[in-house]
Amino acid sequence: LNNGLALTPPMGFMTWQRYRCTIDCEDFPDECISDKLIRKIADAMVDGGYLRAGYEYLVIDDCWLEKERNNLGYLQEDRSRFPHGMVSLIEYVHSKGLKFGIYENYGNKTCAGYPGIIDNVKRDINMFAEWGIDYIKVDGCYYNGYNYQKGYEDVKTRLNLTGRPIVYSCSYPAYEDELSYPTDFETLAENCNLWRNFEDIDDSWGSVTGILDYFALKQEHIAKYAGPGHWNDPDMLLIGNYGLSYDQSKVQMALWAILAAPLLMSTDLTAIRPEHKEILLNPAIIKVNQDPLGIQGLRVFRNKGIEVWTRKVMPTAGDEYSYAVAVYSRRTDGMRVLFSIPLQRIGLNNPRGYVIQDLYGLEDWAGVYLPTSNLTVRVNPTGVVFVKATALS
Ligand code: GLA
Repeated sequence: LNNGLALTPPMGFMTWQRYRCTIDCEDFPDECISDKLIRKIADAMVDGGYLRAGYEYLVIDDCWLEKERNNLGYLQEDRSRFPHGMVSLIEYVHSKGLKFGIYENYGNKTCAGYPGIIDNVKRDINMFAEWGIDYIKVDGCYYNGYNYQKGYEDVKTRLNLTGRPIVYSCSYPAYEDELSYPTDFETLAENCNLWRNFEDIDDSWGSVTGILDYFALKQEHIAKYAGPGHWNDPDMLLIGNYGLSYDQSKVQMALWAILAAPLLMSTDLTAIRPEHKEILLNPAIIKVNQDPLGIQGLRVFRNKGIEVWTRKVMPTAGDEYSYAVAVYSRRTDGMRVLFSIPLQRIGLNNPRGYVIQDLYGLEDWAGVYLPTSNLTVRVNPTGVVFVKATALS
C-alpha cells in the first residue's frame, strides 16, 4: 500500500500470542487484556531498549471491546478493563514515544466474538482515527462470502479518507487460502501494508517449521510481492515464551529476518530471560530484517533436514548484492551436523568474493570467500547458523 508507511517491515509488539483472549482480571490480574497490561507493555518496551532497537508499534489484539455496541451504534472498549477509556490509553502509549495499533475484523464479529466492523466501516474507522491509532489489524472471521478483496478495499479507502497515517494489516489472504480461493497478490500489495498468508502461529517448534514450509512452498508466488510498503506476514515472534528452545528461538529470529517479516514480539517483556532478550535485540539481525531494499529471501537448498535460506541485501559498495545466509537444521538424530556447500551452489556468484560475519557472533570467519569456496558450518539440532556475506567490490 503506497501510503508512505511500513517502508521496512513493521516492528513492535502484539498481545495475541502471549495473552490471547484473557478477560478474567480477577484470576489473571497481570495477564488480562486491560489498560494496566498495555501500559505495562509500553513501559517495558521503552525501559528494556526495545523501542530504541526499532520495535515501535504496540498493537492490542482481539478482546478489548465490549460485547455490544453502545445505543448510538458505536464500538466501545470494555469499561471494566479499560476504566480510563481508549483515548487516554492511546495518549499514554504516544507519550512514551510508541505508536498504537488496534484490532478489528471485517465480518459480523471478531474471531473471539466481539462486534465486527462490516456494517459500520465508515463510522468505526473515523472513530479510530480520531482516537489516534497508527496501525490497524483487520481480521477476517465471520465473513460469509468470497469477496474479501472488495471489503478490505472499502476499509482502505476509509482509512485513506481520514488523512491519518495508519499502517494497514490485512488478514484476508489467510482466509482465502483456507478456502482455496486464489488471492490476487498484485492488488493485495496495493491494498495493504502487510498481510497474513497462513495459519495462526502457536507456541511450538512444529508451528514455526510448518509456517516456514508454507513460505518455502509458496515462495515463487508470494515472495515477489514483498517490498517497501507491502509485506508478507508469517505471524508473531514466539521468542521469550514456553514452546521454543534457545536454538529454536534463534531460528525464528533468523528466518523472520530472511523473510523480511514484520517483527511483532508477544511475550512478557518484564520477565523475559536475558538470552531471549538478546535474540530479540540483536542489532545485526534487525538490520538484515530492515534492509532498505526489502527483498524477501528464499529457501535455496534442502537435503536431509538441512535447509539453506538466503536473502539479498543492500551492497555496501559496488553493484553485487550482499546476502544473509541461514543454514537451519531440523535434525534431532545426533550431534551437531557438519554441513558444507560451495557459495555458488546457493547463488553467491560475485567473482571478487565475500567477507563473512556471523550474525550471532559465534564464529570468526576470517578471509575472503569466493563463489567456489565452501561455506562450512556445524549446526545444532533444530538450530541455525546465520551469517552475512558482504560482497567485495
Ligand atoms: C485470528 C487471528 C489471530 C488473532 C485472533 C484473535 O485467529 O489470525 O492472529 O488476531 O484471531 O481472535
